[in-house]
Amino acid sequence: MSKQFAVIGNPIEQSRSPELHHAFADKTGLDLNYVKRLAPLDGFESSVKEFFAQNGVGMNVTVPFKEQAFTLCQQLTERAKIAKAVNTLWMQDGVLHGDNTDGQGLVDAIQALDWNLAKSSILIIGAGGATRGVIYPLVKAGAQKIVIANRTLARAEQLVSDLKTAVPDAELSACGLDELQGQFDIVINATSASLSGDALILPENLQFNYAYEMAYGKPSSFLDQAKARGVPTSEGFGMLVGQAIEAFYIWNGVRPKLKDFL
Ligand code: ATR
Repeated sequence: MSKQFAVIGNPIEQSRSPELHHAFADKTGLDLNYVKRLAPLDGFESSVKEFFAQNGVGMNVTVPFKEQAFTLCQQLTERAKIAKAVNTLWMQDGVLHGDNTDGQGLVDAIQALDWNLAKSSILIIGAGGATRGVIYPLVKAGAQKIVIANRTLARAEQLVSDLKTAVPDAELSACGLDELQGQFDIVINATSASLSGDALILPENLQFNYAYEMAYGKPSSFLDQAKARGVPTSEGFGMLVGQAIEAFYIWNGVRPKLKDFL
């Protein structure tokens, strides 16, 4: 029987993980079966246990269960501990392991675009789970200065104070969305504004060389403004593929090339 994998979430119909993992398997000559698994909002834990009891090998976790997956794991990677969220699960000697590959997925996507991260200054807009997961991998990849700008300033300040010790060599600071200004190498939209169809306004005195939108397949006022300035841009499909490749590597020991799937 082929190795069994799943992505668990609620809702789950929109997930592109099965098609990605099957494409990686085709490319690398592996035999696997990867399905979507809908868990009831109050039934995450029992669904995970059932999957692994039936010899499931690995699971990806998506909205709204990443924080719950973090609390369920008995063994966590460093980056999952810092993110306080887990998107990749596997069982090893009866112990549930968890990792978070979202941040490395973003780093891999940015590097595949040939945008330089070494000694870079980065502005991240948004201070939710998506931002929390990417700070440590960005700093490990060379980011030197990171400003987190959020509509609710207190949330950005909280994130900075939570993460400061994890990235002692980086310059981490918070600001409100109304104070956006300065010069950055890369600006990343990690808000859910495009998902809900809301506009983000980038002031003229905010300058940047590249713009990355974590969402994909949605109109983005953030990207529209960056394009109007002639700045190279990307939406988040590369990050999605990147996190999937990292999970595939953890489970199968083979790392497909990101550029083959963009
Ligand atoms: P995720 O886990 O995807 O990061 P989240 O924790 O709900 O989701 O965080 C959503 C982020 O998008 C927050 O930073 C939120 O700002 P607030 O903390 O002020 O709520 C931001 N956000 C959502 N809609 C926004 C909008 N219309 N304009 C600006 N920021 C927005």
